[in-house]
Amino acid sequence: PNLFQPERTNSKGFDLRHAPTLAAIEQARAPFRDATWDAVPLIAGEATPETRVAVTNPSDLSEIGSVAQSSAEDVELALASANIWDAPAKVRAAALNKAADLYEANFGELFALLAREAGKTQMDAVAELREAVDFLRYYASRIPNAAPAGIFTCISPWNFPLAIFTGQVSAALAAGNAVLAKPADQTPLVAFRAVELMHEAGVPREVLQFLPGRGSKVGAAITGDARVGGVAFTGSTATAMRIRSAMAEHCAPGTPLIAETGGLNAMIVDSTALPEQAVQAVVESAFQSAGQRCSALRCLYLQEDVAEDVLTMLKGAMEVLDLDDPWHLSTDSGPVIDEGSRAKILAHIDQARTEGRVLKEMQAPQGGTFVGPTMISIGGISDLKEEIFGPVLHVATFKSRELDDVIDAINVTGYGLTFGLQTRIDDRVQHVCDRIHAGNIYVNRNQIGAIVGSQPFGGEGLSGTGPKAGGPNYLARFCAPDRRQSTA
Ligand code: NAD
Ligand code: ALA
Repeated sequence: PNLFQPERTNSKGFDLRHAPTLAAIEQARAPFRDATWDAVPLIAGEATPETRVAVTNPSDLSEIGSVAQSSAEDVELALASANIWDAPAKVRAAALNKAADLYEANFGELFALLAREAGKTQMDAVAELREAVDFLRYYASRIPNAAPAGIFTCISPWNFPLAIFTGQVSAALAAGNAVLAKPADQTPLVAFRAVELMHEAGVPREVLQFLPGRGSKVGAAITGDARVGGVAFTGSTATAMRIRSAMAEHCAPGTPLIAETGGLNAMIVDSTALPEQAVQAVVESAFQSAGQRCSALRCLYLQEDVAEDVLTMLKGAMEVLDLDDPWHLSTDSGPVIDEGSRAKILAHIDQARTEGRVLKEMQAPQGGTFVGPTMISIGGISDLKEEIFGPVLHVATFKSRELDDVIDAINVTGYGLTFGLQTRIDDRVQHVCDRIHAGNIYVNRNQIGAIVGSQPFGGEGLSGTGPKAGGPNYLARFCAPDRRQSTA
């Protein structure tokens, strides 16, 4: 037996090069091509939600269901009836493992929801389901031997509406907390199905309660309350700061906030890098998932001597990206999440266009909230004042002697999520990795993605509080501080 890792393996996922696998996926998704879903609050008592809000498919703006928004009474009832999960560790682990099995058994519906609610390509949907299943099984294999923190609020973003939602909730449950889960406003349906599956797997309803609704209302109510024993939040840095203020005002000092937030992620490509490898890594990092990953590449630094050649290749690679409805298996990249997001990204591109800085801009399909992949020239990362959450790549150049200045400029932003390096000089890898402030560093590959249990994910500075999700230190933050120590 492996003495250092509990017995567990990550999900094998699906091989999308295998024709029978693709046929099986098509068959499993087919019943959900035109299906609709209606999400409601799932609380221990009877919910009395407010108005229903339509949920739309960002690829064509068609309605795919609705969500009943939790009322103030629902929030109060959920807080009042929340129960910690005092079942033995092996019962909790069995329920989380069962939930993982149910996620896998329902892959057709979950893939359909990820495509139609969140605009996820099939490749992204496979990765997302795998990560969700891996979180469930990983935390089930490491149930902490400690008291729970109490009521744990979990607030997640729309860009990983199944994986991050499940990761937070399953960690909080593994530690035995009562969980209040609020999905992102844009993606309540897949989260609702996830909670239904966790209940079916044996997680009690008064332990895991689901409170869909607006962040500013429901999210604010379940973070700024003295009964809350901890908050796990993933989303923008600005929202994390709002939550921190609310907790400072209402919660006991020392109430943990686990915040995983945004980034201004850079990649450095030096003149020794393999151009084909660098171009593939850049395109995947900047444009996969329509650039809507916290880890996505925002600022590419090209060493001057190779810049022209790499830019030519990059432009060619952008031209062959297939931007379309993610339901189609051939689609490389789908829409951005909603009209508000598209308007913000387009305003940024328009500004660059008026300044003559657009290097390449691809056409976007009509009908949904698509944004064509775009490349913009900038002087350096300090020109970026905020994270532009979409398929926009900013490019700057540097001279060989300026490498340390580039590293300083990246560090000075205060963010520290992902960083990419393309070089064939081993000493340089060591030098740059020693100096850069980033939670996850990727060398000679793309800079997106993480692997539960072996490549945990999380940032530093403005990008997150740590500890990393999917890593060995994460669960400790969901437990009560050791009382024996505090009374000693
Ligand atoms: P967001 O901050 O707008 O919303 C995130 C969640 O917070 C949503 O559920 C929202 O309803 C809720 N919320 C909003 N206001 C709130 C308030 N006042 N109180 C409590 N909850 C509130 O972020 P988003 O647009 O959903 O997601 C995109 C952002 O998430 C990007 O900045 C991205 O970088 C970041 N992100 C980070 C990671 C990571 O692991 N570091 C992963 C994914 C996404
Ligand atoms: N692990 C996530 C990513 O790949 C957040 O981008």
